[in-house]
Amino acid sequence: MAKRIALLTGGGDCPGLNPAIRGAVLQAASLGYECIGMLEGWKGMIEGTYRPLSAADVEEIVGKGGTILGTSRTNPYKKENGQQRVMETFKKHKIDALIAMGGEDTLGVANKLYKDFGANVVGVPKTMDNDLSATDYTFGFDTAATIAVDAAERLRDTGRSHRRVMVLEVMGRHAGWVALFTGIAAGADYVCLPERPVDVKDMTAKLKAAHARKNVALVVASEAIELPGDKQEEKLDEFGHMILKARGVAERLTEVIQKETGIETRSAVIGHIQRGGPPTLFDRMLGTRVGVKAAQLVHEGKFGHMVAQKGDQIVAVSLAEAVGTLKTVDKDWLKLLDTLTGATTAAAAQPAGAR
Ligand code: F6P
Repeated sequence: MAKRIALLTGGGDCPGLNPAIRGAVLQAASLGYECIGMLEGWKGMIEGTYRPLSAADVEEIVGKGGTILGTSRTNPYKKENGQQRVMETFKKHKIDALIAMGGEDTLGVANKLYKDFGANVVGVPKTMDNDLSATDYTFGFDTAATIAVDAAERLRDTGRSHRRVMVLEVMGRHAGWVALFTGIAAGADYVCLPERPVDVKDMTAKLKAAHARKNVALVVASEAIELPGDKQEEKLDEFGHMILKARGVAERLTEVIQKETGIETRSAVIGHIQRGGPPTLFDRMLGTRVGVKAAQLVHEGKFGHMVAQKGDQIVAVSLAEAVGTLKTVDKDWLKLLDTLTGATTAAAAQPAGAR
């Protein structure tokens, strides 16, 4: 009988999951394994619900958004006997190894199961937030930022017609990568990141100057930024994370900007639109490569590891290392951003002769 690999996708979905599932299944099939797909993340492992995953089942999913397996934010360690039930599912359904695709939370559970029970798990990093430190990039990020750039440019068009300041709120949780890349690639006049408090004075000066030059100014803001006078949002998910979508950052930032600049300001929240649609070329390639590598790690018996992109290579890193620290925007990136958004304002402030 062929050995059996189970796959699951947990946490927020993102473009690139289907290419990763396809890569893993095709590689596993060529190594002689049978694959099954657990439904809705760790929920499927707790309840033992799954669907077969043959090579034919995945051959046409590389360009599809979402995940054909469904997902959830279920944490087995927060359910009654959840972790034991997961381990029973391994036995009951004759699962030899599990490939868990997810972010910090999903992989954190995989790491715990490996440590607590010696479970045969391999991790595949995914998140549009790009906040896992053990890998250069996670699939989902490129597509999300690409969609957000398009949204930002559309906002600027309408903003220019009405001579407004436009604010785009993007996702990204406590890492500002989506906002940073969107802001740089769309040529935003100001970018607000969770990595540093919003400097209202600096922002106001730059937006006023940009608006005076171009009749429009564009701001990209990450959903987790702190505004002066902000109170912490209390609603938490099963992994203890703040549910950020209820914070209304864009609206509050809009009020601040309008008050401080005196310029009419409008905002838009792109939200889950960033997580849908076909993956970009980059995410299809990365998803495929990490999926293939994950099946190879199973074959080599390298459990307790996660696949990661390091430079041009796809390598194995320990799961413990992978879930250890969050990757946030560092000071070099902040410096680059400030150079880009500060140069025109600084030049305009100089006397004509000095330019
Ligand atoms: O972690 C991915 C992410 O898209 C975050 O950027 C965002 O804060 C969160 O998920 C939204 O989660 P949900 O889909 O549960 O609303």
